[in-house]
Amino acid sequence: MTVKLTLPAQSKMLSQDFIYGVATASFQIEGGANSRLPCIWDTFCNTPGKVVDNSNGDIACDHFNNWQQDIDLIESLGVDAYRLSISWPRVITESGELNQDGVNFYLNILNELQRRNIKAFITLYHWDLPQHLEDNGGWLNRETAYLFAAYADKISQAFAGKVHSYATLNEPFCSAFLGYEAGIHAPGIVGKQYGKKAAHHLLLAHGLAMQVLEKNSPDTLNGIVLNFTPCYPESDSLADIKAAAFADDYFNQWYIKPLFDGEYPEIMAQLPKEHQPEILDGDMTIISHSMNFLGVNFYTRAIYRADADEHFLQIDAPEPRTDIGWEIYPKAFTELLLSLNEKFTLPPIYITENGAAMADKLVDGAVNDTDRIDYYQSHLNAVHDAIEQGVQVDGYFAWSLMDNFEWAEGYLKRFGIVYVDYESQLRTVKASGLAYKALISNR
Ligand code: FCB
Repeated sequence: MTVKLTLPAQSKMLSQDFIYGVATASFQIEGGANSRLPCIWDTFCNTPGKVVDNSNGDIACDHFNNWQQDIDLIESLGVDAYRLSISWPRVITESGELNQDGVNFYLNILNELQRRNIKAFITLYHWDLPQHLEDNGGWLNRETAYLFAAYADKISQAFAGKVHSYATLNEPFCSAFLGYEAGIHAPGIVGKQYGKKAAHHLLLAHGLAMQVLEKNSPDTLNGIVLNFTPCYPESDSLADIKAAAFADDYFNQWYIKPLFDGEYPEIMAQLPKEHQPEILDGDMTIISHSMNFLGVNFYTRAIYRADADEHFLQIDAPEPRTDIGWEIYPKAFTELLLSLNEKFTLPPIYITENGAAMADKLVDGAVNDTDRIDYYQSHLNAVHDAIEQGVQVDGYFAWSLMDNFEWAEGYLKRFGIVYVDYESQLRTVKASGLAYKALISNR
């Protein structure tokens, strides 16, 4: 049982330049739903059967009202940086103008962070697409990419001088595949003919926004956040190895290869024409715009076997698992970073999310989440190992600052290093939060 987080004395992760942060996302924490336009997650939550506990984001952690106290909390953890996302439907009106009230909400936060010397890592899109855009086709409509760039243009001007880093998108895989192919995330559309089309428009949106950010905000670190679930074969058989490689191209490489190589993985040719994206002249050049950083989110791996009908079949995750059922397998984290570094010419990497859902219990005002500390320890070690082997990683963000709305799992899964009692909105720093704080301050 670990109660402390440590790193080898010579670790680069103990240098003062290595950035430690905590991360959140607008829809998951803010609430304040009446003060913004509706988004696709409001609609999804209000559709019976979509979210396990039938909850929604109307109040969430009520960060909309508690933001000052939450920034005190962030400061109390001693972190260097805070990764937050901007709610597009809060800051842009239906006619595409800035909504000054919404902008002010974030300006207040950015000013407070600046005053306390905490670097703001902004994500422009963490899945809360304005519903009126979905009504027009959402990410299946190419036009949405241009509207995203227009939003990025307005907001980066409004935030001038207050931001350390901009990520265009968070995890386009989740938006595209979970939202428009598997249908388990908003907007809940199902069909293989949709996923890759949505993905292409998301990546186009990213590239167009990169052009805007380079112009409006040349001094910030501009890039994207991708999630990776490395794919392993169930056995050494050639068939299983091929199945895992196909899954890797479909779920992981699909989102990174266009950014750095300007093309989709070769498996595209094996997909039926109607499942392929529509790529216009010049798109891949826009998409492969150079970046100042790559955000990497890592939680777990997946194991595949060959399948007669489909290209691959994912098998159940073995133990040990976290409370959300994801296997704890930190070795995949090191291997992922090494393989990305080998395949692509990368800018510096920031680990923009890593963390674990655990079945926390608040007992006598404390949460003794040693299981989560174990998870953090093994994954920090995994990052350290990758750095030792030559990967440039410049920062690490814990997911999440506090328990929050975990998408289709509602409020049942807790990822925070701070416990949230949703009735009272009381926050309690968990043992993992205290350990993270100690690691950072002992550098
Ligand atoms: C990631 C999301 C984040 C959070 C974690 C657990 O896929 O980016 O919002 O839900 O998973």
